[in-house]
Amino acid sequence: GGAGGGGADGRGTARVALFPLPFQGHISPMLQLAGALRARGLAVTVLHTAFNAPDPARHPGLAFVAVPDAIPEAAAAANGIAKILALNAAMEASGRVRAALASLMAAEGQPRLACLVLDSTLPAAQKAAAGLGLPTLVLHTGSAACFRLFRSYDMLHHRGYLPSTESNLDMPIEELPPLKVSDLFDPSKLPSKEIGQKILDLATETTTSSSGAILNTSEALEPHELKLIRDELAPKGIPPFAVGPLHKLAAGDGAGETTSLLEQDRGCVEWLDAQAPGSVLYVSFGSVARVTRDEFLEVAWGLASSGRPFLWVVRRGLVLGVDERPPELPEGFGAAAAGRGRVVEWAPQQEVLAHPAVGGFWTHSGWNSTLESVYEGVPMLSRPQFGDQLATGRYVADSWKVGVLLEGAVERGAVETAIRKLMEDEEGEGGAMRGRAGALKEKVRMSVERGGSSQQAVDKLVDHMLSL
Ligand code: UDX
Repeated sequence: GGAGGGGADGRGTARVALFPLPFQGHISPMLQLAGALRARGLAVTVLHTAFNAPDPARHPGLAFVAVPDAIPEAAAAANGIAKILALNAAMEASGRVRAALASLMAAEGQPRLACLVLDSTLPAAQKAAAGLGLPTLVLHTGSAACFRLFRSYDMLHHRGYLPSTESNLDMPIEELPPLKVSDLFDPSKLPSKEIGQKILDLATETTTSSSGAILNTSEALEPHELKLIRDELAPKGIPPFAVGPLHKLAAGDGAGETTSLLEQDRGCVEWLDAQAPGSVLYVSFGSVARVTRDEFLEVAWGLASSGRPFLWVVRRGLVLGVDERPPELPEGFGAAAAGRGRVVEWAPQQEVLAHPAVGGFWTHSGWNSTLESVYEGVPMLSRPQFGDQLATGRYVADSWKVGVLLEGAVERGAVETAIRKLMEDEEGEGGAMRGRAGALKEKVRMSVERGGSSQQAVDKLVDHMLSL
């Protein structure tokens, strides 16, 4: 393992509190950060809601404090982004986060509480800390490119890129290459433009009020974007720390602890063992993206007709309108896939991507999935849906060139063609992409090894936390 590297040893001297947004794609990187801080000797307390609560038994090195009723039933039932706003409102109204932090600050015979690290979408937690004079740092769970993008909406409106129109979708955004207008999350296209813009502004608001920004990315992946972020934030006294990929940062303590909220079906690993190297396409759309029944059928038939072995995650709730049970596969699908396919409700994704049988990943371009794929050198078929995923898909295809974008309507013929292109061997574009994915993997791996840029960034982060 390449854990640690010199750095501050805060053992016994300080505690930090962490508050993740209670969604899989945000809880995982926060718990991974917790492991890395603990490996540097800090005591770590994770504050969490009852909704999507992590299992303390899986993380024996961390302390957990439930902040009950911080998210009421109504907010838990709300959809996607509305839930984030409801959670903030409920936190502010109940005062529970403030009370939890105050009791950690007052605890006798304990290391002093140095700061709170909050998810960038939780200004209510930041206000609670500020009221107690407790410094805060902000964890950004997306890419550095998206960090910059979300801070650029005034410019995008001012320069006329937004609101987008039918005719400007292909227009390159000169200020943010390689992004195009079609890669932007356009708040005016949402049922409530105000809510969309508010969500985009949360990260900027919390960053501005913080003592530092922690980014789950690497100098090896986004050197240019990180330099621009540093140039902008450092003069304002908000140092950025690029500590990713977080899932590989904490070797030693905390390594190998799963951060998955759902039970992972490990049976598929044995199935992978029986497949030829590089032959399997892994298909997963993450924890929140949903598809229509029609799209679901096009994916199914596209996979069946691709002629390639596949492992497909069909989780509960994946298909719109079907919530209580796993979605049903179309009749005749099993026969059409002729034993080449395996379907699971939830996979041990990192283990799957690391498996030699896996040669491609059809992903919704969630940032965690993208980092996990990059780390294993697996080329991607990107089908982003919303938010930061759109920009990430563009970087995968046009910047790192380790994947292809599936654009337009999901249609079985296009799916089949894209899969064949991705999975083709040495000859052609597929092979070249595989080569680049291998090279990028080596660079990114070095950043989390001993002395690597992300390990050094955690050392600096710990020093910074202790200096606050
Ligand atoms: C969401 C947004 O979609 C994403 O764009 C944003 O960057 C973070 O929040 P999510 O949809 O959950 O995230 O996707 P992603 O960021 O890719 O995270 C999914 C996580 O679930 C990954 O860490 C992956 O390893 C894990 N997973 C997924 C499993 O453990 N098993 C599975 O079967 C599928």
